[in-house]
Amino acid sequence: MKSFGQKPWVLPQPVLIIGTYNADGTPNAMNAAWGGQWDAKEIMICMGTHATTENLARCNEFTVAFATRDTMVASDFVGIVSAKNDSEKMQKTGWTAVKAENVDAPVFTDFPMTLECRILRKIDETPDGYNIVAEIVNILVDEKYVGADGKPDVEKMQLITYDPVHHGYLALGERIGNAFADGKKLK
Ligand SMILES: Cc1cc2nc3c(=O)[nH]c(=O)nc-3n(C[C@H](O)[C@H](O)[C@H](O)COP(=O)(O)O)c2cc1C
Repeated sequence: MKSFGQKPWVLPQPVLIIGTYNADGTPNAMNAAWGGQWDAKEIMICMGTHATTENLARCNEFTVAFATRDTMVASDFVGIVSAKNDSEKMQKTGWTAVKAENVDAPVFTDFPMTLECRILRKIDETPDGYNIVAEIVNILVDEKYVGADGKPDVEKMQLITYDPVHHGYLALGERIGNAFADGKKLK
């Protein structure tokens, strides 16, 4: 085994697209890899100091979409360009924004699945940011990605994951097993 010390290398990492409204009511989006499920109905996100952070100071609601192969280039773009520096940021993505049904935040319809979220707690707040714990108020899934069983067809979404070691985006693959089931073979 080779040692690498302390790195932000929890694997695999998501590519979360956080949607908020700017002060003038226009939509904004940023990319976040450091986030995940927090208890059954909550999500956590490590938030730095961005235009998004300012938006969340005004309104504690946001959306989270999961990036896909098709949205990869624009998803990276919203992770390297701030709305603070580019007033055309969202026009450049080509994404379509509609208002979320249950929170005051934009839903980008280019993504198969979006969480509507409301901040419950800001943990470890410093001038450099904080960790958000937010309630998942509702989940929206484009009908195209609802399977025959009436549930989201995750395999069909062509989701991507962030590789923090080489700063890449990797395509998620096909289903290879049955959770809470295949392991029983070794019981
Ligand atoms: C792959 C990737 C992952 C990122 N993960 C995070 C993250 O977890 N937390 C964070 O605060 N910023 C993260 N960022 C940086 C923000 O997305 C970036 O600063 C963005 O431009 C902020 O946009 P805004 O200022 O318009 O809100 C990430 C960027 C990339 C490209």
